[in-house]
Amino acid sequence: MPRTLADAPIMILNGPNLNLLGQRQPEIYGSATLADIKVLCAKAAAAYGGTVDFRQSNHEGELVEWIQEARLNHAGIVINPAAYSHTSVAILDALNTCDGLPVVEVHISNIHQREQFRHHSYVSLRADGVIAGCGVQGYAFAVERVATLAGAAQTEA
Ligand code: DQA
Repeated sequence: MPRTLADAPIMILNGPNLNLLGQRQPEIYGSATLADIKVLCAKAAAAYGGTVDFRQSNHEGELVEWIQEARLNHAGIVINPAAYSHTSVAILDALNTCDGLPVVEVHISNIHQREQFRHHSYVSLRADGVIAGCGVQGYAFAVERVATLAGAAQTEA
C-alpha cells in the first residue's frame, strides 16, 4: 500500500558538501543555507498537509541506509545527491528497491550548463522527475511533485 502524506513524512536527502550551502561557491549555489531550505521544504509540504524528514550526509553509505529507511517508512523521497549523482551506483540501487515510492531529484544549479561530468546522473535513471537550475526553489517544486505523486491535494495556497 502506498503511504500517504497524512501518515508518513517526505524524506528529503542532501548529499556531500550541502552542509556548507551559504558559504560554498555562492556564485553557483546562492546564499541560502541548508537550514533555510529545511524551512522552505516544511512550508511546501504543509501546503499539502504533509511533513518532512530533512537530512544531510557527507557519506554515501549513510544515504543508502536512509533510502532503505524511506522505502519502509516514508511517503516519498526528494533527493539532492550532490556529487554522488554523477558517481553512485549504490544510491541508484538503493532507490531501485523503493518500488512505487515517488522520487524526485533536485539540483540547485543547472548541471547541464556546467562541466561535462555533471551532465550524467545515475539517480535520474530512477527518479520520477528531475529539477535542475531553479535554485533552492527547486526543493519546493520537488516537494510539491512528490506530494502530488503521493496522492495529496493542496490544502492551502
Ligand atoms: C548539485 C550539483 C552537483 O553537480 C554538485 O556536485 C553538488 C550540488 C546542485 O545542487 O546543483 O554538490 O547537486
